[in-house]
Amino acid sequence: MSVFRTKSVEQSIEDAEGGEHRLKRSLTALDLTVFGIGVIVGTGIFVLTGVAARDTAGPAVALSFVAAAVACGLAALCYAEFAATVPVAGSAYTFAYATIGEFPAWIIGWDLMLELALGAAVVASGWSGYFASLLKNFGVYLPESIAGDKAVFNVPAALIVLLLTAVLVAGIKLSARFNATMVAIKVAVVLLVIVAGLFFVKGANYQPFIPPSHEIAGKSGLGAPLIQVLFGVKPVVYGVFGIFTGAALVFFAYIGFDVVATAAEETRRPQRDLPIGIIASLVVCTILYVAVSLVVVGMQHYSQLSVSAPLADAFRAVGQPWLATLISFGGIAGLTTVVMILMLGQSRVLFAMCRDNLLPRRLARVHPRFRTPYVITIIIGVVTALLAALIPLSAIAELVNIGTLFAFVVVSIAVVILRRTRPDLPRSFRTPWVPVLPVLSVLACVYLMLNLPVETWLRFLIWMVVGTGVYFGYGHRRSRVSVTGERPSLLET
Ligand code: ALA
Repeated sequence: MSVFRTKSVEQSIEDAEGGEHRLKRSLTALDLTVFGIGVIVGTGIFVLTGVAARDTAGPAVALSFVAAAVACGLAALCYAEFAATVPVAGSAYTFAYATIGEFPAWIIGWDLMLELALGAAVVASGWSGYFASLLKNFGVYLPESIAGDKAVFNVPAALIVLLLTAVLVAGIKLSARFNATMVAIKVAVVLLVIVAGLFFVKGANYQPFIPPSHEIAGKSGLGAPLIQVLFGVKPVVYGVFGIFTGAALVFFAYIGFDVVATAAEETRRPQRDLPIGIIASLVVCTILYVAVSLVVVGMQHYSQLSVSAPLADAFRAVGQPWLATLISFGGIAGLTTVVMILMLGQSRVLFAMCRDNLLPRRLARVHPRFRTPYVITIIIGVVTALLAALIPLSAIAELVNIGTLFAFVVVSIAVVILRRTRPDLPRSFRTPWVPVLPVLSVLACVYLMLNLPVETWLRFLIWMVVGTGVYFGYGHRRSRVSVTGERPSLLET
C-alpha cells in the first residue's frame, strides 16, 4: 500500500538539519509564547465575537469561547508531544508523514491550505473592517461595495495581502522584537477593552444570558449546522445549541497555537520549550477572550453589535469615539501580523511538500538575492488576495475552522499511532492519559465540526476530492520517498 508509505522521523529531522537550509536555533519558551499570542489574537476576538453573539449565542458567547478552548486545549496537548518529538517545520503535514503515511500527509498538507492561506484571507477581510472603522473616525466613509462584509470587491483586504506578500518575498524577517512590539500593542488594546469597557457595562444587557432558542426563519437547510440536520432538529439559533454553534465559529480565534509548532526548527530547546509555548499562549488567549467577550456583550446589547468591528464600535456606541479610534489602531496593527504569519506558515508547509516532490519542486525555488521561496509566496499572495476580496468573511471563516479541526483530529490520532509504531523515540513531553485524552480530543473536534453548517461541509468535501485528484495525478508517482525507496513504511513493518 504505497499510499501509506511513511517518511521516518529521523529522515524528517535530517532533512531539516542538513545543508544550507538549516535555520538558526534562537527562540526560547517566552519568545514562542509571544509568537503564539502574535498569531492567535486576531479576527476571532476583534471581529467574530460580534457575529457569534449577535446571530448565534447571545451574551453566552463567553461560554462559546470556553467550549472552543476546551477542544483546543486537548488538541494542544497532542501537538505538544509531536512538536517535541519531531521538531521539524511543516507541522501536521510532517507529523502525518511520519506516522500514518504519505497520502494522509498529503491530505493534511492540502487541508492546511484551508487553515493558513484561507485563514489569512479571513483575517485580511477583518483587517479591512477595522481599517474602514478607523477611517470613519476621520470622517472618511468607504463605499460599502469596496469595504466591509457586504463588499463586492474588498479593496483594502486585497491590498494588505499584496503588500505583505511583497514584504515576505523581500525576506524582511519578522524579528522576534518586532513581533513582541506588535503583541504588546495588541494585548494592551485587549486589556484596554476589558478595563475601560467595565465602566460601560449594563447589567440589563446580560438578560437573558442564554437567549431562548428559536427557529431560523428564511435560512435554507444548507445554512443549518450538520448536527441539527442529521438528527432532524429544526435549525435554531441561541439556546444551548447556539452556544456550540457559536463555539464552532469562534474556534477561529484560537487558530495559531498549532502554528507555534512550525517554529520548531528555530527553537533552542524544542523538547522543553515547544510544549510550554503552545500551552502557555493558549491559556493566556483563553483568559483574554472570555474577559473581552463578557465585557463587550455587557456594553452593548448583543443584537446591536457591529459585524465588522464590534470592539471598536461598542465604544463608539457608548459615546467614546477616541477609545474606538485607539482600538481600531491596535486591531489593525495586531491583525497585520496575523495575516503575515499565516502566509509565512503556508509558504513553509508548501515548501516542505515541494521538498518531498509531492508538488512541483521548482515551485520551491529560492530567490537568488532575497533567499526566500518567492514563487510559492507570490502564488499564495495572489490567491489569498483574490479570496479576501471576493468572499464574505463569515462564509470562509467556517471553512477555515473545519480545515483546522480536521488537522487536529489527524494529529490526535497520530499521537496514538506513533506511540505504538515508535515507542523507542525519546519523548520529552508526553501527552497525558494516552489514548483517552487523544480520543476526547478527536470527539471534541468532531463535535465542533458537526456544529458547522452543511454548506461548509460540502465545500470542505469538494476541496478534499480535488486534493485527492491532485495527489493521484501528480505526487503519488513523483514522491521522493517512492523514488529513493529507502524509507519503508512504519505501518508495513
Ligand atoms: N486566531 C487568529 C485570528 O483570530 C487566526 O485572527
